Amino acid sequence: MTKIKVGVVGYGTIGKRVADAVRLQEDMELVGITGNTYNFRMEVANDKGIKIFTVADDADFKANNITPAGKMQDLLNAVDIIVDCTPKKIGRANKEKYYIPNKLKAIFQGGEKPDVGEASFVAQCNYKEALNKDYVRVVSCNTTGLSRTLHALEEKFGINSVTATMIRRGADPGDIHHGPINAVVPVLELPSHHGPDVKTVLKDLEIFTTAVSGSFTLMHFHTLVCEMKKKVDVKAVIEVFNNTPRVRVVRNAEKVRSTAEIMELAKDLQRGRGDMPEICIWEEAVGAHGKKLFYMQAIHQESDVVPENIDCIRAMMGFEDVEKSMEMTNKSLGIK
Ligand SMILES: NC(=O)c1ccc[n+]([C@@H]2O[C@H](COP(=O)([O-])OP(=O)(O)OC[C@H]3O[C@@H](n4cnc5c(N)ncnc54)[C@H](OP(=O)(O)O)[C@@H]3O)[C@@H](O)[C@H]2O)c1
Repeated sequence: MTKIKVGVVGYGTIGKRVADAVRLQEDMELVGITGNTYNFRMEVANDKGIKIFTVADDADFKANNITPAGKMQDLLNAVDIIVDCTPKKIGRANKEKYYIPNKLKAIFQGGEKPDVGEASFVAQCNYKEALNKDYVRVVSCNTTGLSRTLHALEEKFGINSVTATMIRRGADPGDIHHGPINAVVPVLELPSHHGPDVKTVLKDLEIFTTAVSGSFTLMHFHTLVCEMKKKVDVKAVIEVFNNTPRVRVVRNAEKVRSTAEIMELAKDLQRGRGDMPEICIWEEAVGAHGKKLFYMQAIHQESDVVPENIDCIRAMMGFEDVEKSMEMTNKSLGIK
């Protein structure tokens, strides 16, 4: 089998996870990653035998006994596709500066505006839109979470409209620069950008979102109200969530009562880095009032987009079977 040659540009929260996930795929080869500055992530990558291609000066790497495999251009020359996991706006700049001139396919992340790609991607919702494309954006962690569960409900029952509130983590656990550390910060823009972003994937969905940030780091939390086409049957909704890929129903009964306990569960499952790529929905918090459906879900922002990037690579390289791709990805990552 000819393996897909993948390069990862940007090796932070998302990039290091995507790189490890690529290494687990039988049909892919991780050619290497970029090194921007020397840091502990570079040490770990080097210890794993991952080739590092420097973005700029390599003096700091050499001074710390890491021998880069080359410059970023060498990585671009050696791959079929790049997964760009740099901070927002840098991905777009890289597209103009590197990927277009090198005629190289590239995946971007949710920090970029939708028009950076020809499609915005969530595998189980719109895999086919990314088939053979050159530039695709994997949507943000929040948009991925909203799209996975709302798509399942729309397919099975039909939705008239959705209102949802995102209660967002203030920063990632390893981030010492962002906050708040003792406040709730409302997004003073209505709707928040999440609703319009969901519509880049689920184009016909009527959705309005609001958002706040809080003083915690573990997960995002969503509370949703869906006006359904028919009277809601709570049991049937829970069954749909139980049967939806990359969605996990958790229960108060098993004492999963909080995002903290979900993260503990992920560690007990012995996932890499204690990740929980599935969107977690509390069974006991699914409720109904006539045609209104209420539910709450938690999003592990560091990992839910990782399987999406893997499936997006396959789609852009022309692999047509979405179920097979998701199955391969899920199996390799040990997720539902
Ligand atoms: N973190 C999340 O919760 C999350 C969830 C979903 C999607 N996303 C999206 O994913 C993207 C990446 O976010 P992240 O949280 O992974 O960021 P991050 O942790 O800050 O990592 C960014 C990486 O890019 C590198 N980098 C910076 N400038 C670069 C350049 N000019 N060329 C090459 N590499 C460069 C950084 O290297 P240095 O550290 O050496 O500077 C770092 O390795 C963003 O679009 C973000 O919106 C993030």
